[in-house]
This record gives sequence, structure tokens and C-alpha cells, in this order.
Amino acid sequence: MLSKTFIIAALAAAVTATPIAQGQSSSWASGAPAATVAPSSAPAPVSTGAPAAVAVNPTAPDGLVAKLLTEPNTVGRFKEIQSQLATGTINLKFDFNPAANPAITPGAGGQVDLAQRANFPILTGTGISAAGIFFNPCGLNTPHFHPRATEFLTLVTDTKMLSGFVLENGLVSEFNTTLTKYQGTVFPQGSIHFQQNLDCQPAVAIAGLNSEDPGASSVAQNFIVNIDPEIVDATLGFPNEINADNFAQFKKNIPTPLAKGVEECLQRCHIAY
Ligand SMILES: *[C@@H]1O[C@H](CO)[C@@H](O)[C@H](O)[C@H]1NC(C)=O
Repeated sequence: MLSKTFIIAALAAAVTATPIAQGQSSSWASGAPAATVAPSSAPAPVSTGAPAAVAVNPTAPDGLVAKLLTEPNTVGRFKEIQSQLATGTINLKFDFNPAANPAITPGAGGQVDLAQRANFPILTGTGISAAGIFFNPCGLNTPHFHPRATEFLTLVTDTKMLSGFVLENGLVSEFNTTLTKYQGTVFPQGSIHFQQNLDCQPAVAIAGLNSEDPGASSVAQNFIVNIDPEIVDATLGFPNEINADNFAQFKKNIPTPLAKGVEECLQRCHIAY
């Protein structure tokens, strides 16, 4: 019975979140990208705002994080950071603007820009990271968990956002809440959680995570796509709905995060899907 319910839910999620042609305006980028921005595969964000020069976040030099991790103490670590700052190989600030993060390929529903140890080495040893999450209208940050961090997410735009989590085995009812501007909520470490922009306009949330290397694991993507099909089949109770003939198609339709959004929102906002 349980697996049946899961299949239906999984199918519904996959179907409603099916990505289609790109081209949705990604107007969450507040400033027009300046000529200094490296070319990216992403569609250029449309903006009518005042143009702002956006510098791409620097790539950490090879071996720097490893070196920082082996400094005998914090002063030694920050002396190394200081010398790297002086040569301009790393920055003391991180720009969450998607235009400053061209290496990230957006999903149909938006993108997550995570400042973590690997791309913002000053975080090494601090036990913290932060994300800027940029949602297109209706954008869905699909259910995922962070193996090494609890997350505190705050909505910063004047929009509505549904968020929810399921803690773990033993307490599996969904905790959920709707956020408006400047309201925040928490997703406990390891809990499966999501955020859904309920508005027909872009939204931005900023999140802090209590690990410099929080990690993320997308539930549907990693379970249905990346676990051996025989195991998935058995786990789902050998469903009739997913079989050898349609499984490849089924897998192909599972979107990358962020997904386009739920059907009700896409219809209300007149977004093709
Ligand atoms: C919120 O959680 C409750 C139960 O925990 C669930 O019944 C309901 O469907 C959830 N609502 C939304 C909008 O996700």
C-alpha cells in the first residue's frame, strides 16, 4: 500500500515538474549582467533595472583549501587567507547574484548559489555556509536533504513561499509553513525538504547552513535515477506503472533542481509546461 502511494506521488511529482523549453525570464537577477561576466550556457537574465557591474566570484586556487585545513591553528589559517586576499586570488565577499556564478547551470525553475568551503575558502574551519536561492515564477526547489547541515532559510522578496520537511523515520508527517517577505524557517539536518515559490513573479531566499561543506542530495533524482533499476523496482513494490518500457522515459522527465513548479501554480501564472 505504502509503495503504491509513493509511486503515485513520485509519478505526480515527475509529471508536474517536467521541464520544457528554456526561455522563462530569469528576472531575479537584479542588475543587468555587465560585460565583465563570463559567458554562460544560461539564458541571459532579463532586467530593466540600473545596470550594475557584476564580477564573477573567483575560483579558489588548487590546493588552497587542503592547505588551510592543515594549518596548525586559526591564526595560521587566516595569515594564509590574508596573503591570498592580498594577491586577489580569493575574495572576502561572495556575490550570490546568478550573474556572478556562471558555472551554475540553472534548472527550469531557478538556481541555487551556494557559498561553501570549496568556492569560498575563507569559510574553511568556520563550520558555516550560505545559499542564495533564485526562484523563477512557480519555481520548485525539489525535495532534497543536506547530509551535514541544518538550514535556516529566509525569504527576502515580497512573495509567498511554501516550504516543508519530513524529519526522519519515526516522525514522517510533513511539517510545512508559508513564508512571506523577511520570514524564515528551519530544515533540520538530514530532513527531506522543499521550497515552492507560489508567486507569478521571481523570488529570492537566503539560507544559512551550519557546515562549511553541507552537501545536498536530491531525493527523486538520486533514488529513481541513480540507484540500480532493480533495486528501485523492488523498493517500489514492482509497480505496473513503471516498467522496463517506460522507465527510461520516466527517468528522463525528472528535472534538475530547481524544477519548474507545481501544476496549479504554472496554470495560475500562465506558464507553459
Ligand atoms: C502540510 O502538512 C500536512 C500534514 O503534516 C499535510 O496534510 C498537508 O498536505 C501539507 N500541506 C501542503 C500544502 O504541503
